[in-house]
Amino acid sequence: MINRETVEERLSKVIYPNFKKNIMEFGFVKEISIEDEKITIKLDIPSADPRIKAQLEDEIRKRVAPKEDMVVEVQITQPKVQKETSSQGKNVLPNIQNFVMVSSGKGGVGKSTTTVNLAIALAQQGKRVGLLDADVYGPNIPRMMGIEGVQPVFLGKNIKPIMAHNIQVMSIGSLVERGASLIWKGAMVTQAIEQMLEDILWDKLDVLLFDMPPGTGDAQLALAQSLPVTAGVCVTTPQKVALDDAIRSMDMFQNLKIPIAGVVENMSGFICPESGKEYAIFGKGTTAPLVENFKTQLLGEIPIEPAIREGGDNGQPISVVAPNCETAKRYQEVANKLWDFLIKVNAEGGVDNESIQPTIF
Ligand SMILES: Nc1ncnc2c1ncn2[C@@H]1O[C@H](COP(=O)(O)OP(=O)(O)OP(=O)(O)O)[C@@H](O)[C@H]1O
Ligand SMILES: [Mg+2]
Repeated sequence: MINRETVEERLSKVIYPNFKKNIMEFGFVKEISIEDEKITIKLDIPSADPRIKAQLEDEIRKRVAPKEDMVVEVQITQPKVQKETSSQGKNVLPNIQNFVMVSSGKGGVGKSTTTVNLAIALAQQGKRVGLLDADVYGPNIPRMMGIEGVQPVFLGKNIKPIMAHNIQVMSIGSLVERGASLIWKGAMVTQAIEQMLEDILWDKLDVLLFDMPPGTGDAQLALAQSLPVTAGVCVTTPQKVALDDAIRSMDMFQNLKIPIAGVVENMSGFICPESGKEYAIFGKGTTAPLVENFKTQLLGEIPIEPAIREGGDNGQPISVVAPNCETAKRYQEVANKLWDFLIKVNAEGGVDNESIQPTIF
């Protein structure tokens, strides 16, 4: 008779449609029971799409007992309805007008730094801004916003965002113990993101910015499936290796049907404070082909500047400390371009990503 290990091993050959990971890795398999002539497999999947269900049932039946003469029963639980994902009228967080996902293919290119300064620049322009740290693996926003250790206020199961620099901030880092989230698996990430979206009591917001973990994984998908993401911002540094990864992040936006607001070229040149001379340490202006290929725009070039790093480390972002410096002005420009883009997306009828069918990323 077939044993559980064999069934699990065979299930780990079943790739979740449109993804690279298998259903075991995702944690979608909830129960396996083996009786005399029958194997029952229960799954819980995040998609409400009947096609995904049918495809999985078929694939599992084929894989689990190809030779053994056993009945394979597959029971798949799905969310009742596909979550609405259009930014007009169908928003599950009606208090919030626009959702912006800041992503990059590569880690450490300055996503969090860009998100923080972009949020501040938008707030300085009078917008009501929220910032959600969705980097479940390495939440940095509390430190960068100077609210490390500040406990949010709970109202029953709901949580009030923390106000910092005129921005409503919430971070998974404020909710879990330090380091606790580093080992999270895919399904837990999805749950954490969904939970955060449900439980946080945002005031009225013009825009909610999401600082994402690096790469193109579970957190990005969970968010895009839960909300009508109005725009995606891709952050990259000028080196070739970073650009290769940035392409993946742009592909992901396209696959998730997230309109691409543009690219921020971060650590783009270094302006020597003494001489004012500019040095292209990691290169400069290298994102042009990327921008062109994806028919989008360069939102801004942010130079390498020690004050940016210091601001991040001590919770006093450069846009707050020195709002009139060249770098802060560049963040203002990024904010202007992003805002114009959001207006355009909404004027054209909002986002239409009703059934997200991402291809491989
Ligand atoms: N333009 C810049 N000039 C100087 N330092 C910068 C600049 N942009 C980012 N940094 C610094 O680089 C480091 C990495 O930035 P950050 O944490 O924002 O990257 P990230 O893409 O969010 O990283 P992760 O992928 O780990 O989330 C930080 O110490 C930050 O202060
Ligand atoms: Mg980060």
